[in-house]
Amino acid sequence: MKYAAMNLLSAIRRAASQLRAAGVFVAHNADNALDEARTLALHALDLPANWPGNLSGAALSIVEQDRIDALIERRIRERIPAAYLIGRAEFAGLSFACDARALVPRSPIAELIETGFDGWCDASRVERALDLCCGGGSIGIAMAVHQPRWQVDLADISPQALALAQTNIERHGVGDRVRAIPSDMFNGLKGNHYELIVSNPPYVTEAEFAALAPEYSFEPALGLVSGSDGLDATARILAEASDYLRPGGLLIVEIGEAWRAFKGRFPDLPVAWIPFSVGHMGVFAITREALIAHRGTGRE
Ligand SMILES: C[S@@+](CC[C@H](N)C(=O)[O-])C[C@H]1O[C@@H](n2cnc3c(N)ncnc32)[C@H](O)[C@@H]1O
Repeated sequence: MKYAAMNLLSAIRRAASQLRAAGVFVAHNADNALDEARTLALHALDLPANWPGNLSGAALSIVEQDRIDALIERRIRERIPAAYLIGRAEFAGLSFACDARALVPRSPIAELIETGFDGWCDASRVERALDLCCGGGSIGIAMAVHQPRWQVDLADISPQALALAQTNIERHGVGDRVRAIPSDMFNGLKGNHYELIVSNPPYVTEAEFAALAPEYSFEPALGLVSGSDGLDATARILAEASDYLRPGGLLIVEIGEAWRAFKGRFPDLPVAWIPFSVGHMGVFAITREALIAHRGTGRE
């Protein structure tokens, strides 16, 4: 076998430099070019994402080096998000099948799931939870895996996203507790009630969408855009969620940068902004009772 001049560590560092020099946008499943290069290189070598091996001690054959180069070149030339190139994404410590039928999982809600919603909801009192706007199902399935007693419904308007969610349900062996339900917001969920509803709806404004990096064009626009202030989907959720929450139930919604507009559109809504280890991520929580009280005021 012929060996390349580089070991794996050098190949990853060179790939990271190439990604940076090409101005590739890294934000879907990593936040820096080095992690992105590592993910792609390990995939090119058929190694697991969490491979614990010694990178600098791993000699590369010329064939292996060529495989890494080809994948990096494709990432640069086509600008496809790495998760779509390799067909999977890590979320809340789990690996999900990932393709262009749904957004690449990247919600900060992963941190809440991994910490058992500590301080926000008593996980031991949850029987049924809903992941509304579930995409490929990462949030709801991760909730079911981390909370083995919970029954979890996944709902989305996109049949393509739901098909991917079904694949992920089977991948994680949670089909006895997790259902994927076609639903335009709550329309397909009549008669169901939950202690916890979690949602990462679309929340990008039309203006922001027009200016997004090329990588986002591979994701379904239905999962990103939500009106002129990014809050149309959230407004629908807020208007109806209390009808689907049990007494004492909690709604958690991610709205990212739309939190700024939120304060103007819903000035009196008593939401709590959830702090994350990296700071404010535009995720709020509100109880069923606060939603009902606010609805009584008739104000959006
Ligand atoms: C931001 S993506 C989130 C996907 C997934 N929850 C995640 O965190 O990766 C928003 C999702 O909302 C879905 N969606 C958009 N409009 C919807 C609607 N009216 N009813 C239900 N789902 C909707 C899209 O199909 C998309 O999968």
